[in-house]
Amino acid sequence: MKGLILAGGKGSRLYPITYTNAKQLVPVANKPVLFRVIEAVRDAGIDAIGVVVGMDDNARQVREAVGDGSRWGVSISYIPQEAPLGLAHAVKISRDFLGDERFVMFLGDNVIQGGISDLIRRFETSAWDAQVVLTAVHQPQQYGVAELNEDGSIRRLVEKPREPRSNLALVGIYMFSQPVFEAVNSIRPSWRNELEITDAIQWLVDHDYRVQPYIHRGWWIDTGKAIDMLEANNRVLDEISHEVKGYADRDSQVNGKVTIEKGAEIINSVIRGPAIIGENTRIINSYVGPFTSIYHHCVIENSEIEHSIVLENCRIIDIPVRIEDSLIGRNVTITRSPIKPKAHKLVLGDNSQVGIL
Ligand code: TTP
Repeated sequence: MKGLILAGGKGSRLYPITYTNAKQLVPVANKPVLFRVIEAVRDAGIDAIGVVVGMDDNARQVREAVGDGSRWGVSISYIPQEAPLGLAHAVKISRDFLGDERFVMFLGDNVIQGGISDLIRRFETSAWDAQVVLTAVHQPQQYGVAELNEDGSIRRLVEKPREPRSNLALVGIYMFSQPVFEAVNSIRPSWRNELEITDAIQWLVDHDYRVQPYIHRGWWIDTGKAIDMLEANNRVLDEISHEVKGYADRDSQVNGKVTIEKGAEIINSVIRGPAIIGENTRIINSYVGPFTSIYHHCVIENSEIEHSIVLENCRIIDIPVRIEDSLIGRNVTITRSPIKPKAHKLVLGDNSQVGIL
């Protein structure tokens, strides 16, 4: 089998972060979501992976960060997509790479507990034409929802139904064989001008191809919005182990599951896990609370932060009120200003969101 990972898209729900960063490269527990996806596909025994990317600067970042895949022992080919014209469009343009092999398509911004080895094994040994991953959700109205036949196969998929007939939502992992290419070539763009993968799967069902569900019982997160990124960060941090490769001085307390990466320094501070402190980051006279990931080369001084993700090269200094529930991009400086008049002085990118006490 081959792997197809989708790492294009607009990422508009994550503006302004995605103006300058590919969404899939935002780190969750200090590892880009896309790297977690590549590892999940590799761990399922797949070593030929196509990565669909856009044609902008974010695509260049993805290519630079991922390279040829040799770091993971896999071979990566890039498939440029002229514009984000939909998940089914991504399948269509990947035809040459995929050839006649069955394949798994994994959205590059999804994080799933427990990997995908089981479901790949099940599909590989089956005669099914497609397998889709479903999971029970509380508000099916917000998802693509599957209705099943009595024999357990898929009867119908409905996007964001007002009156859902089941609580089983489509997770961003799909397995296909050859008929999917006929499906993606037969469907028409939706109202949002995208070729929808749900329409392609419905086409398979309507043409009597066997589409089998796989019910996923662990957690699964689509990191489309900042709140989802933080939720994914919580879940992954909850599963990390305690590992101190950096330095914590005697005046510091490091409690619970905490990873301190090499070159990091904790001076006169409290780190309460689960948390991760990145390479060469310095935490001085500060508190880092549970569910926080601080990436590389940051300085946190005389400040408190909890339940947040901070990307590389940030400086958070002398902030009197605890920072919570925040996603902070690269090279951000947050300091107290001694210059009068006393006021908030902000330089924020378009579509930033700031909550001030
Ligand atoms: P989405 O989250 O559905 O779309 P998006 O990334 O454009 O985000 P937003 O809705 O906030 O603007 O995409 C899911 C994944 O698939 C994500 O990793 C991007 C990728 N993708 C493509 O590679 N090509 C596409 O045409 C689309 C729509 C998404």
